Amino acid sequence: MSEAEAVAEENPYERYRYLRREQPVFQEDPTGPWTVARHADVMLALRDQNTFSSDVSLRPAEEKLIRPSMLFSDPPVHNRLRKLVSYAFKPGFVENQRDLITARCEDLVIAMSQQKEVDLVDALAAPLPVTVIAEMLGVAGGDMRQFKAWSDKIFSNIADLLFAQPSAEVDKARIEMDDYFLERIANLRRRPEDNLLSRLVETETDVGKLTDQELLSFCGLLLIAGNETTTGLITASVRVFDEMPETFLQVKQRPELIPTFVEEALRYYSPFSATIRRTTCATELGGQQIPQGALVVLLIASANRDESVFDRPDEFVIDRQPNPHVAFGFGIHNCLGAHLARLEGQIAIASMVKHLSAIRLAPGEVPAPGQLGGPSHLRVSIEKV
Ligand code: HEM
Repeated sequence: MSEAEAVAEENPYERYRYLRREQPVFQEDPTGPWTVARHADVMLALRDQNTFSSDVSLRPAEEKLIRPSMLFSDPPVHNRLRKLVSYAFKPGFVENQRDLITARCEDLVIAMSQQKEVDLVDALAAPLPVTVIAEMLGVAGGDMRQFKAWSDKIFSNIADLLFAQPSAEVDKARIEMDDYFLERIANLRRRPEDNLLSRLVETETDVGKLTDQELLSFCGLLLIAGNETTTGLITASVRVFDEMPETFLQVKQRPELIPTFVEEALRYYSPFSATIRRTTCATELGGQQIPQGALVVLLIASANRDESVFDRPDEFVIDRQPNPHVAFGFGIHNCLGAHLARLEGQIAIASMVKHLSAIRLAPGEVPAPGQLGGPSHLRVSIEKV
């Protein structure tokens, strides 16, 4: 590997800068996907769902018909699903989860603060979103461990989920998790409860109700879309604390900075670093001709450092406003869980600054990029208050 390639691997932002300047819409290999690096072009593609389809999965057509996924479907299927589940994700409902999230977060951060060095992902960044989603879905205490094991197995690789044949082990976990939720759904139809899954079961609008298969698909989507991304937001925040220790003191002294800190962390180390589309017809983007049926990778993390949109794009500006990042996407597929993710991120930071006097990467720790852009492990050194 050349020195330049090694730098790019360690710091993808160098490569993104090069792409924005020299090859903003680029196909490295004639059979491979196109990449889109500039903010304006990423926005154009996200806005134009007729040309840039989200139906990228190579799963069998029959499976997609019976169990459509909101994230990987186009209108009119997408409209129907989004309308039905949006009801459950209204800001008011999410805001009602504040106490639950705070309680889980405090437990995890207090446990973490008892140690001098921990893996941040294992201790806080991964368990917080999984537990919150599981509790919102009404997964009861004893089932939580099993639920986590299934979700780790099934959703460990988003690319495999879309393009590969699942292994026997993944299939087994998927069947077990489906059976578990089918039984829960049947029970909720008889005896509704006060949780997200029950609301989804009951919701009825002019487009009807969600079927059992659609409900199963949505439970799965919450795990794919909501877990690793929120984990990435928490690890991103701690990387910022490590690189710029003054930011930790600033949010400790002025907690009113936490919301803009979180927005800037979403921009600076975008946890959902890229998304994908397939062209439905030949089209032009950024001066390049893209043929019909091509896969197009929209580099969200690059768009969020675009010098034509952000002043001092490679600086972390704790109170940056406005901050037109696309970390939560844009257009019809914009993140349904954005309120929840922001709330979890803000609470996690509030808890860390309350219980810790410092948090740094452990000596020698280098964050390795994970599936969607966040590291899968991050050893940190901690000083308790
Ligand atoms: C920091 C955390 C998060 C980030 C950065 C993030 C980012 C994104 C992005 C970029 C998209 C659009 C993808 C595309 O257009 O292809 C998306 C969609 C989605 N997100 Fe999030 N997400 C986060 C957390 C969550 C959470 C916590 C949930 C739910 C519990 C969630 C649920 C969804 C769903 C259901 C969609 C699909 C929406 C649709 O297709 O209409 N996300 N997210």
